[in-house]
Amino acid sequence: MTTTVQTHPDQPIDRATRDAMAAVYLAAYGDPDLPESRLDADDFADVTLTRHAGRAGFKLVLSTTDGQVSGYGYGFTGRRGQFWSDWLATTVPSDIVETWVGDHFELVDMVVDPAFRGQGVAGLLHDELVAGLPHERALLATVPGDRAAPRLYEGRGWQVVAADIDGDKALYGLDLRRPA
Ligand SMILES: CC(C)(COP(=O)(O)OP(=O)(O)OC[C@H]1O[C@@H](n2cnc3c(N)ncnc32)[C@H](O)[C@@H]1OP(=O)(O)O)[C@@H](O)C(=O)NCCC(=O)NCCS
Repeated sequence: MTTTVQTHPDQPIDRATRDAMAAVYLAAYGDPDLPESRLDADDFADVTLTRHAGRAGFKLVLSTTDGQVSGYGYGFTGRRGQFWSDWLATTVPSDIVETWVGDHFELVDMVVDPAFRGQGVAGLLHDELVAGLPHERALLATVPGDRAAPRLYEGRGWQVVAADIDGDKALYGLDLRRPA
């Protein structure tokens, strides 16, 4: 299988791309046989993604494997006044908030269709997503352990900066500053 990864160039995100992302979302998080799963996937693509795409610093990367969209990853500039940044500010210790929260790149999600997993697609998406970001730091939340997502991130320089922030989830940070 051949995979290519590209940063999506257009704003707003076109219908065909949103439909392809909804299909990946459904395959990863839902049950294609359930109408409520389909509604949830459409809501992600039409409402949540569209709202996030309007934020400063938005960046979307898409992978295509053998002609089919196999995965995506995206994020935007996280700022105080947004839900997650404000929630973090009341949840993690203040020294971490001061260092990490605000004007960070917020990696919202990275998803690969189950049919294409275990072949390095997420690694390609990750590297394209963080390449050239102007931010000094990046943040995301995921459940640590011997699982695909933490393995993916920990292998690429992300570190736990606060444990147990949301149930089992940890806050992961990546220092994006480059040596002068
Ligand atoms: C996490 C996810 C994106 C990984 O996609 P993928 O294309 O299969 O990942 P890759 O093949 O690029 O592998 C990434 C790393 O995870 C490891 N990995 C893959 N599957 C694994 C598994 N089941 N258990 C443990 N490690 C695993 C790989 O060995 C690789 O590690 P390496 O970089 O040290 O070699 C995919 O599992 C997914 O979409 N999960 C659901 C959504 C999700 O949880 N996203 C993260 C939210 S922050």
